[in-house]
Amino acid sequence: MNDKKYCILTYGCQMNVHESEKLAGFLEERGFTETNKQENADIIVFNTCCIRKSAEEKILGNIGAVKPLKKNNPDLIVAVCGCMSQQVEMAEHIKKTFPFVNIIFGTHNLDKFGEYLDNYINTHKRILDIKDKTILNEKVPMYRTSGYNGWVNIMYGCNNFCTYCIVPYVRGREISRQPNDIIDEIEGLLSTSKYKIITLLGQNVNSYGKDMGNDVTFAKLLNKIADLPYDFKLKFMTSHPKDLTDDVIDAIANNPKISKTLHLPVQSGSNRILKMMNRNYTVEHYLDIIDKIKTKIPNISLTSDFIVGFPSETEEDFEATCDLVKKVGYNSIFAFMYSPRPGTPAAKFDNQIDINEKNRRVNILLKLEKEISNQKTKEMLGTIENCIVEKKLDDHNYLVKTDNGKTIIVKNSDLKELSFVNIKIDDRIDDQLFGTLVK
Ligand code: SAH
Ligand code: SF4
Ligand code: F3S
Repeated sequence: MNDKKYCILTYGCQMNVHESEKLAGFLEERGFTETNKQENADIIVFNTCCIRKSAEEKILGNIGAVKPLKKNNPDLIVAVCGCMSQQVEMAEHIKKTFPFVNIIFGTHNLDKFGEYLDNYINTHKRILDIKDKTILNEKVPMYRTSGYNGWVNIMYGCNNFCTYCIVPYVRGREISRQPNDIIDEIEGLLSTSKYKIITLLGQNVNSYGKDMGNDVTFAKLLNKIADLPYDFKLKFMTSHPKDLTDDVIDAIANNPKISKTLHLPVQSGSNRILKMMNRNYTVEHYLDIIDKIKTKIPNISLTSDFIVGFPSETEEDFEATCDLVKKVGYNSIFAFMYSPRPGTPAAKFDNQIDINEKNRRVNILLKLEKEISNQKTKEMLGTIENCIVEKKLDDHNYLVKTDNGKTIIVKNSDLKELSFVNIKIDDRIDDQLFGTLVK
């Protein structure tokens, strides 16, 4: 061990959160320890995102803000990696604008971070290395920081090319991990009894296995994992509506270990816009899937992503989106203002929407979401939820968490931390739910 510290700044989605655990693995392996204060760090790593312009601007600002730290500590190492620096032009821009950034790489060569670090420490030569393809590497160290939740990558990349989205350009084509490697990793986690939730990660998990050319499917993988003889819950993200098959819905319905939550991003409630987005489904098809899910899994908790202000989106298109939100009754939604991404088809579409109008629409949608999620929380009163005991608050009071992330206070009980219990929700004060143990 050395006395040097590292600080990783993570932006973007869960994929990046998990990949930061891999970056941390390389650093821990070399004896560095974690700090969340940049001013105490000997190495700062920016794990970046470029899904919207606002993300990129924020990150560039935060990289710039490191300059004074480098003055105080000339030995400070600064590394930038992830989706934003995977764009070659952006990587060059970072290299030119921030001479104090020492190591720059992308998403495809995260597994080389250890080598880059060793090379830089030995030679003090700046490194910029961007590759154009992920080569699966099962030998990457990991330092997990997500408590009892174990993230597990099942696939990388995306083949969908939704016209607004940068992900296929910075993450490459779909590539699935071998089922045995996935199962081994999960068994390794569960056998420590430290991990109680396993969350499978991929940009489009429903197409898991398609690139392997055998009969492995996502549903088979889910069932195989859920059959492992441990007490845990299995979650996954993200599902694309066009690829969500009946056997996946059946797996969720029939397997008590699979969480009754589903993130099914629809993006828009207008068929015209969905077509322009290249989403490959219609609103009617999406609603049919939702009906099927609700019939087979009555207690399902649904969430979704929406983009407002896509090029040419009219008031009518936007109202169709609001109608869809009301019809489905999501437990929560994420709403984003469309952000043109250079190199994607939609950035060149006519009739880009004015920022003020996007802002107005996103606020309407967020207000609607607040009303609906409030209503959903109210509907939880009187229901029985299978929850994980997160922690003991004080003597006989506990904080437990539902599958869909709501916390409940359970008073006057004797519960075992990190066990699963059935809780009847009997009260709600503001946003806080209260419940009792059901034997
Ligand atoms: N693979 C996932 C996640 C993609 S990124 C999926 O397909 O759902 C997460 C969300 O960011 C998307 O669902 C979309 O709603 C939003 N998003 C993607 N590109 C965007 C853009 N250019 N502008 C605004 N939001 C965008
Ligand atoms: Fe982007 Fe579409 Fe792929 Fe999701 S499915 S990552 S939105 S291209
Ligand atoms: Fe995720 Fe952002 Fe990359 S959302 S995949 S970190 S562009």
